[in-house]
Amino acid sequence: MGKAPLKLDVAIVLAAGEGTRMKSQTPKVLHYIAGKTIIDHVLTEVSKLNPEQLRVVVGAGREAVEAQVKQIAPKAIPVFQAERNGTGHAVQLALADLKITGTVLICAGDTPLLRSETLGEFIAAHHKSENTVSVLTAEFPDPTGYGRILRNEAGEIVAIVEERDASDEIKLIDEINTGVYLFDIAALAKSVANLKSNNSQGELYLTDVIADIKAAGGRAAAVLSNDYSETLGINDRAQLAECAAIMRDRINYDHMLNGVEIIDPTTTWIDANVKISADAKIFPESWLAGTTSIAAHAIIGPRTTLMNVTVASGASVIESNCVDCEIGSDAKVGPYSYLRAGTKLAAGAKAGAYVEIKNSTIGEGTKVPHLSYVGDAEIGSGSNIGAATVFVNYDGVEKHKTKIGNEVRIGSDTMLVAPVSIGDGAYTAAGSVITDDVPAGAMGVARSKQRNILGWVLRKRSGTKSAQAAKAAGANESSEQGS
Ligand code: UD1
Ligand code: MG
Repeated sequence: MGKAPLKLDVAIVLAAGEGTRMKSQTPKVLHYIAGKTIIDHVLTEVSKLNPEQLRVVVGAGREAVEAQVKQIAPKAIPVFQAERNGTGHAVQLALADLKITGTVLICAGDTPLLRSETLGEFIAAHHKSENTVSVLTAEFPDPTGYGRILRNEAGEIVAIVEERDASDEIKLIDEINTGVYLFDIAALAKSVANLKSNNSQGELYLTDVIADIKAAGGRAAAVLSNDYSETLGINDRAQLAECAAIMRDRINYDHMLNGVEIIDPTTTWIDANVKISADAKIFPESWLAGTTSIAAHAIIGPRTTLMNVTVASGASVIESNCVDCEIGSDAKVGPYSYLRAGTKLAAGAKAGAYVEIKNSTIGEGTKVPHLSYVGDAEIGSGSNIGAATVFVNYDGVEKHKTKIGNEVRIGSDTMLVAPVSIGDGAYTAAGSVITDDVPAGAMGVARSKQRNILGWVLRKRSGTKSAQAAKAAGANESSEQGS
């Protein structure tokens, strides 16, 4: 016999607030933590509880918030709150045409650290005690700003008092309302209709229904959570950073328990959707973002940013910045490489120091070891691109492609003026400006022949240290070849 399934009929997420204290043009719940919006974190966890219906109250930044909600929880029903008249008003609207009875979970859209496991335990406690209303509470080291939980001598919850409405004595209470509740829907609907705005903000406070439900004979309980950090809300940028750091630690901890070696978890930032295999190793000050995935025995960092990058097993990426690209097994990147969108390094390929590559395929075992720009190129296997080679892909108006075969040797400082192609096994001479195709097996030379003007330094720079050195080496002023 398994555990009885947790029954949750409806979930309501309140996300209509202005988020004034963020001082941002972006709605509060659309700010990011670990590569996901705040509301994404909340909806992902709430959705894991499988409510029969999910409603999200939106207001400030309605279009953008609704679009994000639709993306994460397509079945969620948005409820529009045109005027922010308080959490009680938001719930009135959310319940307006609700046909379902049973239990409703209410939480705020600005608490991204709440986990479905904690919510699950809260739901279990609510059902076990047969409560009409349960409030999830927490003891905060600094409860300033939150609603305080008032209990009677028997320890039962009596009311929730907002900071603004609290006496000095009540402000000393460190047990706070997390803003997460479970209600019997019928009792809530009745009570929420009775709300009055006789408080300092002139709003309808959802928290006032506790006393009302009790007065009507309902059973109310405050359920103290054992990890206060999960219920931290975000109201300003400082809290955004605080929650991001907690999320970072949580994500890193999970990866480490899964066998990933993270040398310095405090400076390693890994987005929520990144996948890393056991035995990968991450050095300090690295940021692994977006949909990045890293295979076993890969080495990342120090100081490396990977955004939507696939790194295959045994590859290393050191002090580099890579976006939207694929790095093959045992490939080597860096130090100081910049791999831009569309770069594909095949197995064993190399993009060495100070190399920039975009929209190019680098074949198996091919090396671009130093100081090069590779753009819009397709390079075969086993080739070597000499130091300071530039793929001249842009004629000032359009981009053009370069094709390079297998086992090619591009001499240092070659300019490959696209469109151009270099055949299998071909060479180019160092310093060449290659504008025409080089056939397989040929040596492409495109530079003027060198001439030496003998005695020039002795004649034109007499008296300098260079002239003295030349004289000591047996040179003379004559422009004729000596006998
Ligand atoms: C609220 C609680 C407080 C609790 C705290 C926990 C009330 C009266 N107070 O205070 O006891 O300690 O949360 O974080 O409920 N919202 C709407 N429409 C509105 C007003 C708010 O959708 O008209 C949403 C907000 O977007 C937010 C949530 O409700 O997601 C809470 O609102 P907020 O203004 O942050 O309330 P707090 O002052 O934090
Ligand atoms: Mg809040």
